[in-house]
Order: sequence, then structure tokens, then C-alpha cells
Amino acid sequence: MKISVIGTGYVGLVTGSCLAEVGNNVLCLDLDAAKIEALNASSITIFEPGLQELVRTNVAAGRLHFTTSVQEAVAFGQIQFIAVGTPPDEDGSADMQYVLAAARSIGLHMVEEKLVVNKSTVPVGTAERVRAAIAEELATRDVQLTWHVASNPEFLKEGAAVEDFMRPDRIVIGTDSDFATDLLRELYVPFQRNHERLVVMDIASAELTKYAANAMLATRISFMNELANLAEKLGADIEQVRRGIGSDQRIGYHFLYAGTGYGGSCFPKDVQALQRTAQQVGVPLRVLEAVEATNNAQKLVLVEKLVARFGENLRGKRFAMWGLAFKPNTDDMRAAPSRAIMERLWALGATVQAYDPVAMDEARRLYGDRADLQLVNSPMDALKGADALLIVTEWKPFKSPDFALMKQLLNQPVVFDGRNLYDPARVRAAGLEYFSVGRADA
Ligand SMILES: NC(=O)c1ccc[n+]([C@@H]2O[C@H](COP(=O)([O-])OP(=O)(O)OC[C@H]3O[C@@H](n4cnc5c(N)ncnc54)[C@H](O)[C@@H]3O)[C@@H](O)[C@H]2O)c1
Repeated sequence: MKISVIGTGYVGLVTGSCLAEVGNNVLCLDLDAAKIEALNASSITIFEPGLQELVRTNVAAGRLHFTTSVQEAVAFGQIQFIAVGTPPDEDGSADMQYVLAAARSIGLHMVEEKLVVNKSTVPVGTAERVRAAIAEELATRDVQLTWHVASNPEFLKEGAAVEDFMRPDRIVIGTDSDFATDLLRELYVPFQRNHERLVVMDIASAELTKYAANAMLATRISFMNELANLAEKLGADIEQVRRGIGSDQRIGYHFLYAGTGYGGSCFPKDVQALQRTAQQVGVPLRVLEAVEATNNAQKLVLVEKLVARFGENLRGKRFAMWGLAFKPNTDDMRAAPSRAIMERLWALGATVQAYDPVAMDEARRLYGDRADLQLVNSPMDALKGADALLIVTEWKPFKSPDFALMKQLLNQPVVFDGRNLYDPARVRAAGLEYFSVGRADA
């Protein structure tokens, strides 16, 4: 099939590359000329395991192309995927300007029957707004055409995006036309060889499904974080509680880790956007209000522990930080707990010495050169002369460190572990003072 993908970020680039990988002919459009120039040289600007290779091989095979020409992209694909950003607006609702601009550009240039598929995460009703925007452009041009709009929300995870797209748990399709259903069913055949993964539903339900999924996952995280804070006070261990409840098949083990809160480009904005949608129709989402408030507080739980240990005035203190990305295997720092933590430490007068396996360029881009942030080349370099270590992202190389060397390098042998990576008894036996989340600190 010939497919156009509008928006070449995490979702658009993964979608385009994976669809090319199974034999489709794909043209990806982005308005960011620098991004397209890099992609035309098979170089990607984000860190995502396996993606660079996928782009390179599919470009070389002549199945994957990139352009900044809207006209070319609209002319190319029978299916037009919209995969542009939907960032939070000032009031927390999803900002629809990029989605609607993409829809307008389709209406402006379309000359034959197309299926427009919305892959961006969008509030219920967006497909209708996309349809109206296209209709308006066609009417202005006085052109009569048949076209279809469908919803196909994306569930990939950054850090495992290619794997998730290639082997999805499910593919949600929201349609109101057999044409759209049939075409999308055919497109996704290669991704469901061993069993049916397509879940076909009406458009509003598909749009809501994406928010419901992210809201549920965020809820599990905040729930566990609140219980962790309680467990600490009660002398219980949240890791044991996690295993105790995760073994119940109705609950399961996923997304039950207590820590420093969720971040990233999706959960925070989607939890907010769903609340705004609900407010607009007069349905309060009290659970989600609490999920968001709990998460905002949890991002600073390590700083609270640190202040309890070192006092409010951190002037002259230097802290090591392991992990900047909002989760492992990505360089994404959008709404990352590391940012809330660093910014609070700076406000209290401290200096941060940080290491992340892939997100340091992103940290440089976000914060530039500043005297209170040193980005260093290894986890152990971060410890040199530091008054304590804060572990913020659970990258694999942090999981089994040399505790004796850590004790030697740190100015004061204190560790605040925001991801509960270690057995407290082992760390303490190595002579380190150890604070974690939801486990007794002494
Ligand atoms: N990142 C994720 O893990 C993830 C997962 C599932 C769903 N989503 C959703 O998918 C959507 C895209 O997310 P993302 O992380 O890929 O965003 P992103 O910010 O990485 O990429 C969006 C891209 O769209 C481009 N763009 C904007 N307007 C355009 C236009 N009119 N024409 C062409 N290009 C345009 C931007 O230049 C940018 O490159 C969002 O709605 C997001 O919520 C994201």
C-alpha cells in the first residue's frame, strides 16, 4: 500500500518505518526541515532502540521516504496517518492546532478518495473536527470527493516503540465505514499473524480508549506511590506488598512500582486532558484529580528525604544524580521527575552532578550551560566529591554497582534510591546510608 504519515516524531517515525518494513511504500512528512534533512541522510534525532537501523534499511530498500512538501505527502498515500503532537494547552486540555492544521492540509490538496487515520492521542470528537476541517477546505475549493476518517490510537511505549508496533497487544480501530475497516484490516495483517489483535469499535470509543489506558496506568502508579508513603510510616515494605498483590491474577505485576512518580510526554498530559474533557461535559473525574496531585507530590519525595537528612539550606552541597530520562531506554525528558528534582535542589542552593546513558544531550538542550549542573561521563564520575547520590531512572547499568567503590567516591556515603533498585541490607552492609521509597529507612 502507499501510505503517508504526517508528523515524524516518536509515533510517526515508528509507524512509518514499521509499515515500510513489512513491504508498504511510505512517505513521511514533517514541517521541521532539519528533522527531514537528517532523516533523508538516514539519521534520526531521537534515541529509540532499533529505530535507526529500521530507517536505514527501509530507506535503502526504497520503501521509506521523507519530505517537507505537504502537497507531495497528500498526493502520495491512499491512507493518510495524522501523527502530529497534541501537547497540553494552557488549561491542560489537548492542543488540537497541529491535528487540525494537518487535516486542513489534506483538505487543501486532496484530489482523490483517501482514508484519513488519526493516530495522535486526541479527545473524543476530534475525528468529527478533522472531518469538518477537511470538508471546509474542499468546499472552499469547490471540490466534491469521497473520503473517510478513522481513529487508530497508538499504544507504543517509548524505549520499546519498534517492538510494541511490530508485536502489539491490540490494534484499536475506530470507524464508521466498511471501507476504512477493510483497508485498515488489510494494512495490519502482517502485525497479527498468530492471533487477531484488531479491536474494531466506534470512533468515540476508540478515542476514549487511548485516554482510558493511560489514565489506568497512571492510576496504578499513583496508587502504589501513596501506599508506599503509608508503608514507610507503618514499618511495612512496599516491595513485599507489590509482590503480594501482583501475584493476584486480577491485579498482575505491571505498573505496580513505587518510585519518584511518572513523567514523559504522555501520562501527565493525557491525565490532564481527560479531566478537561470530563469537566466540559460536567462529569468530575475525582480519581484522576487525585492521581495527578499524588504524582506531582511524589516527584519531590526524594528531595523531602534529602532535606530531612541535610536540612533546608543546601548551599555549597553537591549531589550526584543517576538518570535524567523519564524512564530507561529513551532520551525523552518531557515532564521527567529528574527535572522537578534538579530544579528544587537548585532552588535550595545545591549543585547537581548528573549522568544518564543517553539523555545528556537533551539535558544540555533544556538547561544550557549553568554553573549548578555538571554532566559527567560515567555513573562513578558523578559520585566524586558528592554529598549524596540520588537515583532517579532505573537504567540497567545502575542495577548492580560496586557499593564499596561508591562509598569510597562519595564525599558522604548517602544514597537516595527513587527506584528501589537494591536490597537495603546489602547496601547498608557496604557502609552506605540508604533511603528508598516505601521501605523503612533504618
Ligand atoms: N511518544 C509516545 O510515546 C506516544 C505514544 C502513543 C501516542 N502518542 C501520541 O502521538 C502523538 C504524537 O506524539 P509524538 O511523541 O510522536 O510527538 P512529537 O512531538 O515527537 O512529534 C510530532 C511531530 O509532528 C510534527 N508536526 C506538527 N505539525 C505538523 C504538520 N501540520 N504537518 C507535519 N508535521 C507536523 C512536528 O514537527 C513533530 O516532528 C501525540 O498525540 C501523542 O500523545 C505518543
